[in-house]
Amino acid sequence: MSKTLIDTFAQKLIAWHGVSGRSGLPWQGNRDPYAVWVSEIMLQQTQVATVLERYPRFMKRFPTVKKLATADIDEVLAEWAGLGYYSRARNLHTCAKQVVTEFAGKFPSDPALLEQLKGIGRSTAGAVAAFAFHERAPILDANVKRILARLFAVEGSIQDKAVNDQLWNLAIDLLPKKSVDMPVYTQALMDFGATWCTSRKPVCLGSEKKCPFVKDCQANLSDQVLLLPQKTKKTKSPEFDCNMLLIRSGNTVLLHKRPSKAIWGGLWSLPESLWKPRVPGANDADLSAQELFQAALPQEKTLTLVKTCRSLQKVNEIKHVFTHRRLWMHIWQASCPKELPLVNPDLKWVALNQLGRYGLPQPVKVLLQGLSLVRGDDLKN
Ligand code: ADE
Repeated sequence: MSKTLIDTFAQKLIAWHGVSGRSGLPWQGNRDPYAVWVSEIMLQQTQVATVLERYPRFMKRFPTVKKLATADIDEVLAEWAGLGYYSRARNLHTCAKQVVTEFAGKFPSDPALLEQLKGIGRSTAGAVAAFAFHERAPILDANVKRILARLFAVEGSIQDKAVNDQLWNLAIDLLPKKSVDMPVYTQALMDFGATWCTSRKPVCLGSEKKCPFVKDCQANLSDQVLLLPQKTKKTKSPEFDCNMLLIRSGNTVLLHKRPSKAIWGGLWSLPESLWKPRVPGANDADLSAQELFQAALPQEKTLTLVKTCRSLQKVNEIKHVFTHRRLWMHIWQASCPKELPLVNPDLKWVALNQLGRYGLPQPVKVLLQGLSLVRGDDLKN
C-alpha cells in the first residue's frame, strides 16, 4: 500500500475542494446536527438540485428535532411527497422521537451512538459526526467506495464483506489528522466522487481537467479505472400488474391509506388490487366490475358498488419503476353519484382541493394532475 498517498491524501483532497468542490449549498457550514442530519437523509437518494428546493421548505416546516418529533406522521409524509423512498420519511420521524426521548433532544456526537438511531447507517453517522461535531469519523457511501477502490486498486465485489471491511479500513487510514478539517474533508470526498471520479466519465479519461491523484491512483496507473470497483451482475427486476380504482363523487375522490410496512407505506393512494406477476400479453380488459371492486375494495359491499358506480372504464396504464421491482398500474375510473359510506377505516373520500394535505405516491399525484381532475394548486403542499 502506498504510504505516501495515505499521508498526503486528505490535504491534497482539501486543496482540490478549495478550487473545484461545491460550495454555497444551504446545508454546508451548518453545525446544527439536526439540520445536518435532515440534509444527509434527503441527499441520500435525491439529486442535489431537488434537495436545494425541498430542504429549505422542510426545515421551515420542521425547524427543530422537537417540532419534527411531535408532528403527525401524515404531515411528515405529505412534506416528503415526491422525494421518493418514503421509508426515509418514516425513519426520520421515528429517529426524531428517539432523539427527544433517549437523548433529551440533543443528537449524540459519537458515531457509534448515532448509528443506533433509526435510519442512520454507518456512513450517515460518520457524515453527521464529521459535519456537526468535527469527529474524525469516516464515511463510505457508493461514491467514496468507488474513489478508494480505484486509488488502491481494490479488487473483488464491493458487496463482499471482506472487500467492504478493507474499504472501511482505508477510509479510516485516510482521515485528516486534525479534527477541524473533518467538515471540508468529508464534503470534498463527496464532491470528488460525485463530480470528478465518476462512474462512467472520470476526468482522468478526459483531456480537460487534471486529477490531483493521476500519479497515485493504482487504477489509473494500471489502466483499470472503468473496471473498478467491480460490480456484481444486476438481474432485471421483476414486473407486476395491479388494477387501481379512481372513483370520483363530484369533487371528492376515494383514497386508501396504505399500510406502513408496504411500498409507499403510510401514503394515500387509490384503492388497488393485489399485485400479480406480469404475464406479457395477458389481457385484463374484460375484467368485470364485480371482480375489480371485489379485488380493490374487499371490505366494501361489492354489489352496492357495482350498482352505484357508473361508467367504469380503463383510462390509463402507468409503468412505475422502483429499485427492486417494476409496476404496471392499470387505472379504472368510475363516478359515484354520492359518497358511499365506507367499512374499511383506511378509506376516505377526500375533496380534490384538499389533496395537497395528503402524501400521495408520485405517479398517483401525476395521474390526478394529468386527468385534470384537480388544478395544480390543489396538489401543492
Ligand atoms: N450526498 C450526501 N451528502 C451530501 C452532501 N453533504 N453534499 C452533497 N451531496 C451529498
